Amino acid sequence: MKDKKFTTASYQEAKSKGEKITMLTAYDYSSAKLIDEAGIDSILVGDSLGMVMLGYESTLQVTVDDIIHHTRAVARGTKRALLVADMPYLSYHISVEESIRNAGRMIQEGHAEAVKLEGGEEIINKVKAIVAAKIPVMGHLGLTPQSVNMMGGYKVQGKSEEQAKTILKDALLLQEAGAFAIVLECVPDRLARLISEKLTIPTIGIGAGKYCDGQVLVMHDLCGMYMDMRPKFVKQFAPLGEAMKEGCREYIKEVKSMDFPTEAHSFIIDDEILAKLY
Ligand code: KIV
Repeated sequence: MKDKKFTTASYQEAKSKGEKITMLTAYDYSSAKLIDEAGIDSILVGDSLGMVMLGYESTLQVTVDDIIHHTRAVARGTKRALLVADMPYLSYHISVEESIRNAGRMIQEGHAEAVKLEGGEEIINKVKAIVAAKIPVMGHLGLTPQSVNMMGGYKVQGKSEEQAKTILKDALLLQEAGAFAIVLECVPDRLARLISEKLTIPTIGIGAGKYCDGQVLVMHDLCGMYMDMRPKFVKQFAPLGEAMKEGCREYIKEVKSMDFPTEAHSFIIDDEILAKLY
């Protein structure tokens, strides 16, 4: 049923039934409301907001406060979808205690329903602690943008035997630690298929092929509203960026030619009142 609230249990149910899970990012009230009404299963307030909303070159400058600010807005527009907030760089790298506190802020102040963390074995103690604090955790493996400087750029991960083995091992560790789902970003499709088959929890792919249990895309990529970077895995479903530019060009033209605003867009005042003002 389309109106039934999507939860972490729905993620599991969808995997068991072989139904694909849909996820998109959103960073503001109006977009969240639109995609929630369109029937999206899950909304991610990704740290990609640093790039597509704030104009940073990477996600590394995004803070916990940035994510909370945007998550609160998205939460107001979200009724059905499961709302996941990204844990930004350094919010879960220092200590277990800080990780729980920051994840808790996402829930208490941001009104998120789950959090997402990038990484495998090296963050397993944090994942376990956050889950123990009753906060659902989504993992994120493969191309993990917060590690861009360590990876030497945004590159496909898991092509070599060593990398593929590490990603598979990390996925199993995350599942064991209590993650309810794992994002697989930029990994070969047959590796993603193998991982999806081995795991009992769902995989959500982005640049990981069609065999994942669900898919996620960055809203601004889907709508053609962020053109600074165009990864191969992006499909532009609605060219809203171009439509916005065209609308703006039309607006500029009509303001200059005085075709806008017309009487239909204006308010009236009585002739008598006006006459007294002259
Ligand atoms: O920040 C983000 O938007 C993400 C998705 C690309 C999965 O992590």
